[in-house]
Amino acid sequence: MLRSYRISVIGMGYVGLCTAIAFASKGYTVIASEMDAEKVDKINRGISPFYEPGLNEALTEALRSGRFKCTSNTEMAVLDTDITFITVGTPSKPDGSIDLHYVKESAKEVGSALSHKDSYHLVVVKSTVIPGTTENMVKPILEETSGKVCGADFGLCANPEFLREGSALYDTLNPDRIIIGEYDKRSGDILEAFYKEFYAEKTPPIIRTTPVNAELIKYANNAFLATKISFINTIANICERIPGADVTIVAKGIGLDKRIGPLFLNAGLGYGGSCLPKDLRALIQYSKTLGYEPKLLEAVEDVNKHQPQRAIELCRKLLGELKGRRIAVLGLAFKPNTDDMREAPSIAIIRQLLEEGAEVVAYDPAAMPNAKAIFKDSIKYANSAIECLRDADCCILVTEWDEFKKLKPEDFIQNMRRPILLDGRRIFDPKEFSQKIKFMAIGLGIGNPEKAEEKNLQYQK
Ligand code: UDX
Repeated sequence: MLRSYRISVIGMGYVGLCTAIAFASKGYTVIASEMDAEKVDKINRGISPFYEPGLNEALTEALRSGRFKCTSNTEMAVLDTDITFITVGTPSKPDGSIDLHYVKESAKEVGSALSHKDSYHLVVVKSTVIPGTTENMVKPILEETSGKVCGADFGLCANPEFLREGSALYDTLNPDRIIIGEYDKRSGDILEAFYKEFYAEKTPPIIRTTPVNAELIKYANNAFLATKISFINTIANICERIPGADVTIVAKGIGLDKRIGPLFLNAGLGYGGSCLPKDLRALIQYSKTLGYEPKLLEAVEDVNKHQPQRAIELCRKLLGELKGRRIAVLGLAFKPNTDDMREAPSIAIIRQLLEEGAEVVAYDPAAMPNAKAIFKDSIKYANSAIECLRDADCCILVTEWDEFKKLKPEDFIQNMRRPILLDGRRIFDPKEFSQKIKFMAIGLGIGNPEKAEEKNLQYQK
């Protein structure tokens, strides 16, 4: 298939690598650039630097096709292509505000490459950046280092992504919408034409707007998702105080309201990962620089900070003192299908358990190497869920991996010293489990669920 654009992608983090591979999978020539030589080497050998279902296979296929390569030479990557996507990381500074130094450095490199290029080039900022960054920071750097004029010699767009870890390739290939924040019409036209060619009949709605609006859409999106989660966790915390209440049913009930929708209403131990916590913090700090205190967003963050603490409180209810108890922690990654432990609730939970003198044994299907780097020898590591349960006094289910959903009450009875389970992600059926073992769950009111059901029936009559 004839492809009209050659693409370079700067920064091989999660977004960069998945985006580059997705483009290559549809026939585009893609040159990836990454400053970490070890990462470049790994990628060129077909090994993804992080776990993502299907990515190793797609990477191997892209390398085999000859349409994809990774280099540490950004200049070469830019010169040999027509569109450059900047996908470098935007971590948090200690005060929560955004650290833009990778964006600055990459803009300098791209700009100095452009000084050697005769033809028009489009630069696209895909990294999550606070409103104004593309126009007020990236544009001047590009113009200064290239000696060229934005809008005439090269184009510029802000184009946020919304992919989720664990389904990153699928999300890149099947987005809900494309947001194009264009510096000028020509830039937007080129990016729209590229995406229309890339997605063909699967092209989703495209919104063309200013760079500032595009940048803000990304933050508003993540802030809304975080708010939905902290909202349902708040309802869960109320449910826990009402005998017979169950947040899962409440979420199902409100989720059927079209104005609310069913997604992102799973109560649990709070959100983690590389985006929601970081982006919410950045938006809060940014709002403050504008002279506005975003109280709602601060409350969302506060609820999330306390949510892992709920696990400890419920654990104490189940066990009494935690000192000397052996606690099995099932799941360490911030969510299933990833090995990512950035801001995972498991970290806060395990640290608190250790502080209270408990002995912790943990298992995760993918995140064990990352967990070992964090906890070193302060905890024990199991090779399977069953091994993790062995001789434990209590089990906390922290991440809802599919393989944990298969566990039955008997697995807890047969392997634990005391079969006590705290379901932090609502994956087990309270009726089945509370009949056979000592069971508590986030957002589940104390009391016998059987009786509660009888009561509910009475109310219905
Ligand atoms: C998120 C956004 O979804 C994505 O659009 C953006 O580009 C990056 O940030 P990701 O961090 O990969 O993606 O994870 P996501 O699936 O959104 O989950 C975020 C966190 O929320 C996880 O810790 C998850 O466990 C938690 N979560 C999610 C809940 O606690 N309850 C829910 O109902 C949904």
